[in-house]
Amino acid sequence: MNSRFQRGAQVYAGDQASLSEHARRSADQAIGFLMQQAVENADCISLAAGLVDEESLPVGIVREAVADLLSDSHAGRRLLQYGITPGPELLRRLFRINLARLEQRTDELQDLPLSHLVMTTGSQQLLSLVTQALFNPGDICLVAAPTYFVYIDVLQAAGAEIVPVIADANGMRPDALAAAFAQIEAAGKLDRVKLVYVVSDFDNPSGVSISAARRPELLKIVQERSADRRIFLLEDCAYRELRYDGEAIPSIWSLDTTRETVILAQTFSKSFSPGIRVGMGVLPRCLIKAVTDLKGNEDFGSAHLNQHIVAHAIQTGQYAAHVGSVCESYRRKRDAMVATVEREFAGFVGVSWFKPQGGMYVWMRLPRHIETGFTSALFHRATQVDKVMYVPGELSYPANWQDRPRCEMRLSFGVQNVAGIEEGIRRLASAVRWALATQSQQPQSQETVR
Ligand SMILES: Cc1ncc(COP(=O)(O)O)c(C=O)c1O
Repeated sequence: MNSRFQRGAQVYAGDQASLSEHARRSADQAIGFLMQQAVENADCISLAAGLVDEESLPVGIVREAVADLLSDSHAGRRLLQYGITPGPELLRRLFRINLARLEQRTDELQDLPLSHLVMTTGSQQLLSLVTQALFNPGDICLVAAPTYFVYIDVLQAAGAEIVPVIADANGMRPDALAAAFAQIEAAGKLDRVKLVYVVSDFDNPSGVSISAARRPELLKIVQERSADRRIFLLEDCAYRELRYDGEAIPSIWSLDTTRETVILAQTFSKSFSPGIRVGMGVLPRCLIKAVTDLKGNEDFGSAHLNQHIVAHAIQTGQYAAHVGSVCESYRRKRDAMVATVEREFAGFVGVSWFKPQGGMYVWMRLPRHIETGFTSALFHRATQVDKVMYVPGELSYPANWQDRPRCEMRLSFGVQNVAGIEEGIRRLASAVRWALATQSQQPQSQETVR
């Protein structure tokens, strides 16, 4: 296999023969390479890591919950026992109430059968299970361009054909989605389309949200194209609760009145703790059995105690209060990053950035000829001279998309404190200033400048 990242062989050629096709297709992961880069560049200020703010992790709330949950030995033993595959009913009821709050519903979503809810090990597991449930090699997934790069890897491992659909400041463009479907139809491959994937709020990496006006439009296009064979829309709401400005927008899932098209993925990783690994999916009826069967093969139930810890925090009201304080802290960091970018990059011709209303990322675009990838001169300069690291934007596009932009960066304000963010952006501006001064319109690779 041709490595996207020139990482070098990690297994001997002979070992490859014993691996499954699936394992081989999983070999070339962006996340693994990114983490390797983080280790190799440990002396850098990282604006790359997508980790959540360390200071905000809810140690006190979790300590109290564990003490409370285990205070009665009999009840405690039950929580230290296996649960059931989709998660205990009582918890799913609580998580449904939390979803109703996010959807601004007053009826606690009681018309949504609990059987449609599945608790997962982070929302990543839901993304993976849904993909396993739907895809055979050669099946098609349309994704916003750019999109969450770990999901690109999941699709790649499934052997999916990934079709990028251009997104702008209001999220995936409905006209581009319609055009992509038309092209697929013209190629006679409509029956291979299984899924459209979007991150509807504060996307990773771009920070954009799908506007309220576009949400029903996108849903309508998918539903119209589902006339003969169901096409699903996977709505990933990982960052939904991290909103710093503006009004909350109802999910696309809430617009799907028959609840047959949209799969909703939610997580408590960003709003509470990623280490606790509690995520949740809401599934159309026809996917419930397949997803729970596949989950049965993996773990027959996510960490029982952890689910109860999150439920306890929701029940005591501590969760809502925690989300409020986390948002306060991220808002300060987002403001610090944007203000420093505005100051440090003022006057840089052809450089633009997007101020997100929530989430953890600022997306920056450089002039087209300044490449940002791992082997680019800029990445080398940033990590070796200026000592700052970012995520190259090209990871967030399908690797075989020839026209993918290569001049973008994802900048995270998640882990660094305000001082680290300000210093990181100053260093980045220094590296970009160097690139603008030294690189002509012809893209250069690291090899040519070394
Ligand atoms: C867009 C998106 N979806 C899903 C996930 C998976 O998160 P988790 O498995 O912790 O819920 C992430 C993690 O960074 C993400 O950025």
